[in-house]
Amino acid sequence: MALDAAQALKWLAEMGADEAILPEPVDRFAESEAQKSGAAASPSGSASPASPRPALNRPQPAAPPAAPAMPRTPAAAVPAIPAGELEAMAQGCKTLDELAQFLDGFDACPLKRTATRLCFADGLPGAHLMIVGEAPGRDEDEQGLPFVGKSGQLLDKMLKAGGFDRNSDDPATSVFITNAVFWRPPGNRNPSTAELLMCLPFVRRAIELAEPRIVMTAGNIPTQALLGTTQGITRVRGNWRKLSIGGRDVDLMPSLHPSYLLRSPEAKRLAWRDMLGVKARLTSQ
Ligand code: URA
Repeated sequence: MALDAAQALKWLAEMGADEAILPEPVDRFAESEAQKSGAAASPSGSASPASPRPALNRPQPAAPPAAPAMPRTPAAAVPAIPAGELEAMAQGCKTLDELAQFLDGFDACPLKRTATRLCFADGLPGAHLMIVGEAPGRDEDEQGLPFVGKSGQLLDKMLKAGGFDRNSDDPATSVFITNAVFWRPPGNRNPSTAELLMCLPFVRRAIELAEPRIVMTAGNIPTQALLGTTQGITRVRGNWRKLSIGGRDVDLMPSLHPSYLLRSPEAKRLAWRDMLGVKARLTSQ
């Protein structure tokens, strides 16, 4: 039994359930035993207290805890929505608010099942600079805003050093921020290709509607997704690229992710060089 419990805990952590969401533990084994013996047939027969969280985010009691052979990422479960349909859905959103609302009700991305909430964007739509990061982490998942955790604090410092502030009301000094996927991947794993492809039309639509002059990508994931390249960020960073969106060419500066800079502070000078390049191009326009 002790082994089962240890395995169950390991399995939960691997699935991304790495934090407590209720003040008291819930015995899911007792719950499923109760279900088996029919106690769950009555609506009031639940063995667990009511959860304040939506059912969508609850751990699935039916999941077998001792099943390490389960796929570690839900990529295989992504329903194949043709790219053209995703594109039509994105184009159907005429404003950023509509896009956020649409995504809030969009159930096809499996990341949504394990995330607490949608994490769409922050900052000023219409800001000359737009940042696209990788994926929400734990803090972003809690607050529903991108880059509010440790990496976000470093990003804010870097932006401030460059004369930008996400809380500014001036498009020239503000910034609009989003991510390559809009829900936290379980356990902070990298988003799968299928998940990225599912979010990409909406990320592109966000860029189209926010109309930035420059997009700066932070790290490999948004850089590769938006540029359709497999080249690594250390090769492509610092080199201007063009992004063709909505009949318009937008300048794109690939740069390093703040979490990488936290691990490798010596690379901050490269990120600073990228920031200076962005600043120079914006002031010359
Ligand atoms: N890292 C990201 O790429 N995006 C966030 O929103 C937070 C951390």
